[in-house]
Amino acid sequence: MSRIESLLRAMTLEEKLGQLNLVTAGHAATGPIVPGETTHDIRAGLVGGVFNLWGRDVVARTQRLAVEETRLGVPLIFGLDILHGYRTIFPVPLAETGAFDPLLWERTARASALEAACEGIHLSFAPMLDVSRDPRWGRIAEGPGEDPFVGSKFAQAKIRGFQGERLSDRGALAATAKHFCAGGAATAGRDYAAVDVSERMLHEVYLPPFRAAVEAGCAAIMSAFNNVNGVPMTSHDKLLNGYLRRKLDFDGVIMSDYTAVSELVEHGVAADLVEAAALALTAGVDMDMVSGAYLRCLPEALARGLVAEADIDAAVARVLRLKERLGLFDDPYRFATPAEGVQEAHRQLALDAARRAITLLSDRGILPLAADVRRIAVIGPLADARADMLGPWSAAGAAENCVTILEGLKAALPACDLIHCTGVSIEGDDERGIELACALARSADVVVLCLGESAGMSGEAACRATPGLPGKQRQLAESIMATGASAVALLSCGRPLTAPWLFEQAQAVLATWFLGDMAGHAIADVLTGRFNPCARLAVTWPRDVGQVPIFYASRSTGRPPDANNFYSSKYLDCPVEPQFPFGHGLSFACVTLTNLRINRLEFTLGDEVEVRVDARNESEVATEETIFLFIHDVTARVGRPLMELKAWAKVALAPGKSKTVAFTLTAESFSFPGEDMEVMFEPGAFDILVGLSADRKNLLTASLRMIST
Ligand code: GLC
Repeated sequence: MSRIESLLRAMTLEEKLGQLNLVTAGHAATGPIVPGETTHDIRAGLVGGVFNLWGRDVVARTQRLAVEETRLGVPLIFGLDILHGYRTIFPVPLAETGAFDPLLWERTARASALEAACEGIHLSFAPMLDVSRDPRWGRIAEGPGEDPFVGSKFAQAKIRGFQGERLSDRGALAATAKHFCAGGAATAGRDYAAVDVSERMLHEVYLPPFRAAVEAGCAAIMSAFNNVNGVPMTSHDKLLNGYLRRKLDFDGVIMSDYTAVSELVEHGVAADLVEAAALALTAGVDMDMVSGAYLRCLPEALARGLVAEADIDAAVARVLRLKERLGLFDDPYRFATPAEGVQEAHRQLALDAARRAITLLSDRGILPLAADVRRIAVIGPLADARADMLGPWSAAGAAENCVTILEGLKAALPACDLIHCTGVSIEGDDERGIELACALARSADVVVLCLGESAGMSGEAACRATPGLPGKQRQLAESIMATGASAVALLSCGRPLTAPWLFEQAQAVLATWFLGDMAGHAIADVLTGRFNPCARLAVTWPRDVGQVPIFYASRSTGRPPDANNFYSSKYLDCPVEPQFPFGHGLSFACVTLTNLRINRLEFTLGDEVEVRVDARNESEVATEETIFLFIHDVTARVGRPLMELKAWAKVALAPGKSKTVAFTLTAESFSFPGEDMEVMFEPGAFDILVGLSADRKNLLTASLRMIST
């Protein structure tokens, strides 16, 4: 008999339910505080996992309560939200995705896993895989942006990084793909709000990253707070049991989100906590995060015949199997030991990641800053902000580890006279500092405007109805630019910010997002030209919140936008084009693409389609460019998106040099969910579109046909 079977046989009902009980400790508040006696409950065998607790000693002490003071000694699993770093903090995921570099994504997850495993953490509530096309939603910062193909690659890289080869290896963390699913489509961009999406959008946009996560072997999945088409994800039998478990054969642990089981009553699908617990368990949720409904109410649900003990046993078995895969039964105190110098290596990685996450949005030629610049005015509420560089979900990260923008510029330009003031606060109404700011601007050769959001304006429950520059930052920026000063604007933010006036007036604008520990050094390296910016937008940047949701893969319409046709899909008061398209990002170089060619004009299912394009660096600056390949299925029985990303490639180009970039597509790239949502191949014409962003007017296009399936 296996260990798990013998444990199940030995366990009382209460001990079984204890394994399904996931409780929060106090090191971080990631939801409403629910009173409880954690230590008592652990000793009584009523807790299966603890999160929001870190540090070797306290984790060891807590584990000892379970291993040495309970009847069966089943070890706890310790979890934490490690989205972009544990102690070393990397750029927020939306920014890091912009590097379009799966190896980097994997490396930062690996570094985070090692740091966390050294302190006894076993599981990360990451990667967050919510595709989002709505910058009002604060959690857009936590995910991989708007595209399901990118989200799928991001999922695979992060899970490889967190989990490594075996979960029992020192330095491995179990990954939790979250939040399943479609929270990024919340009504009006408001967190937790209802989600109404078509079956087609589910299968084309919101499910693919989770499919990729399951295929990559993720150990756990967290169901989302929101409902989908009226059914809360916490009790969504069709998508949890039906899609994850039966369709994808996912046999890992499904956990609820924070108190989400008890929230089924508020959702209006359960009359009381007993029904809520029964609905969640029978839908496929194994662990109840924080609500305590499983522990307290499943006995009555059993008595009412709402659940069977076999349902409970199956959930407990999955939790025990995860603990076994982690090696916790063999060594409950599986602390990894950090190799010498690992901290410094991670800070270097954080610098590399931060540099590669900076997106140069616009530049009228002012960058890189002239080497002989004498005086720089560093102005704005984010200029010397430290904690805000961490962004949301900074785990065990610490503000004192962050390098501010001002500090980074001082270190990079020791001979330069740097003068600084905040001008205004991030969100306040006080404009009295603007006058001094303008005086500094007049006395400087160039102004670096450090604008944006606070870390608290991003992440969970941090939605903004008007995602522009908050407070009086616009007044500050326009007053400074009105002095005639040359201004480079930096946007520290967790979302695209709608600010067309800034792009019209500033000499250059960079999205510096929330870059983590090494923010200041990375920004200084880009502004001084020591690093040639290479990031690209993983999300479309709207001109106005009225355009939202806005994304490149829009579906066709019978009356596409046409400035010359009144009866076409457009606005009277705003262009339909975004401020910047998906994939946009400038560098200090200039690269041209020519000679797009395909190895065949017709293909069948078994064929590979080879696509090649020549890339030439027309500048004197070495560069690394990202080249995107989209397809368009011209005619199909369901209207297909005007473009779908199917591949991207990065190419390093020395000054004046050219390279041929090759892509290989299989027939799978040309498939889509049919009317039954099963994979479908439909013969017909396809366009291949290749370019440096999703800006269709600048893409090279070639056509081919699928001639049979
Ligand atoms: C929060 C978040 C979720 C997180 C969990 C534990 O409410 O929704 O992303 O993993 O609680 O902190």
